[in-house]
Amino acid sequence: MTVREYRQKQAGDKGPGLIRQVRGLLSQKSIGLDLGTHTTRLCLPEDGVVLSEPSAVAVNRLSGEVTRYGTAAIKLLGRTSAQEEAVRPIRKGAIVDYARTLALIQAFIRESCGSMLRPPRLLISVPASLNDAEKRYVLMAAEEAGAGGVYLMESVRAAALGAGLDIKAPFGRLVVDIGAEVTDVAVLSLGGIVVSGTLDVAGRAFDEALMGYVRSRHKALIGELRAEEVKIRIGSVREGNTPEDLKRISVNGRSVETGLPVTVPLSPAELKSAFDGPVQAIGRQILRVIEKTPPELLPNIHRGGITLTGGGSQLDGLAERLSRITGLSCTVAEHPEDCTAEGLLRTLPYLDDMVEGMLVSDFVHRRTGRYNT
Ligand SMILES: Nc1ncnc2c1ncn2[C@@H]1O[C@H](COP(=O)(O)OP(=O)(O)OP(=O)(O)O)[C@@H](O)[C@H]1O
Ligand SMILES: [Mg+2]
Repeated sequence: MTVREYRQKQAGDKGPGLIRQVRGLLSQKSIGLDLGTHTTRLCLPEDGVVLSEPSAVAVNRLSGEVTRYGTAAIKLLGRTSAQEEAVRPIRKGAIVDYARTLALIQAFIRESCGSMLRPPRLLISVPASLNDAEKRYVLMAAEEAGAGGVYLMESVRAAALGAGLDIKAPFGRLVVDIGAEVTDVAVLSLGGIVVSGTLDVAGRAFDEALMGYVRSRHKALIGELRAEEVKIRIGSVREGNTPEDLKRISVNGRSVETGLPVTVPLSPAELKSAFDGPVQAIGRQILRVIEKTPPELLPNIHRGGITLTGGGSQLDGLAERLSRITGLSCTVAEHPEDCTAEGLLRTLPYLDDMVEGMLVSDFVHRRTGRYNT
């Protein structure tokens, strides 16, 4: 549901109310922004996640002016158009195209908040591994987009909160956030990240593996969006044979040899071997983090297992495979793709206790007792 639809529904339910509108105009809003590589999600304290759109921006090739963003822009991705070009301005969780990320943030704020007299405060999730320059880029883009205060939070910490884990308890919790281009693995305890590791293999690596397989096995090229669609429809990494493996779908592509359109038949069974590389890479990353975990937290991790978050964790059979590789139980959180935004939402009431421009890990130990999500 878009924000406009949401607001229309709200208006239908309750009526806008002049006092509500005036109060909304005068107060300083707090906004949570999960600036994902694949999808950007925006949440507001009273309304939850109100906007969820692909992180894509289209611009006019001549003037450089932003023409569309989100769903409207993603449709142009990979298509040749004389006038417009669509890009994903965030890669591996970091800004690679400053101007277009700025435009994306501006569009999100405008769409979700309308007119405001006071610039909103923004809480943004970023991968724990971003370096200082990359963090500064996020801060600058948010400030230039009109934020009146920017706060940063590690995506994996937000995802753990959003998955409903009590990360302040004196136990170790192992969370693996599998997004589109980043897999963040972290052990959290007593409100802090004890050990973490970021890997640039996530959902998109499965799309690329699928494209590579179709190219080498069927001598055909298929686009990024089509590969993702096929992965979501029939992709599976389950071990052994299942009745679903026999499902077959036809995918339109282009022959590598003739350049002409071809139809490629694909089944889940043949994709399994192509998907093995990314599964093993994610499994190894989890093992690396476990190896670095202090021994006193290991019994908790053995008891609690792994909580998976992020859209990429929904691949059929992935939780079972990761469980087998690590020897730990593995549970996919409810609505895993929304966990990070949900965690930001839970943190918004505590912005006064946070330090502008700093990651939670950078200040949490200095302010004992005040930070309280
Ligand atoms: N049902 C599904 N099965 C398999 N993969 C899925 C499914 N639904 C979504 N995905 C994948 O999840 C990924 C997007 O997840 P998410 O929205 O958490 O990423 P993101 O937060 O934008 O990216 P990142 O955290 O890497 O910056 C995509 O690669 C998408 O293909
Ligand atoms: Mg993410």
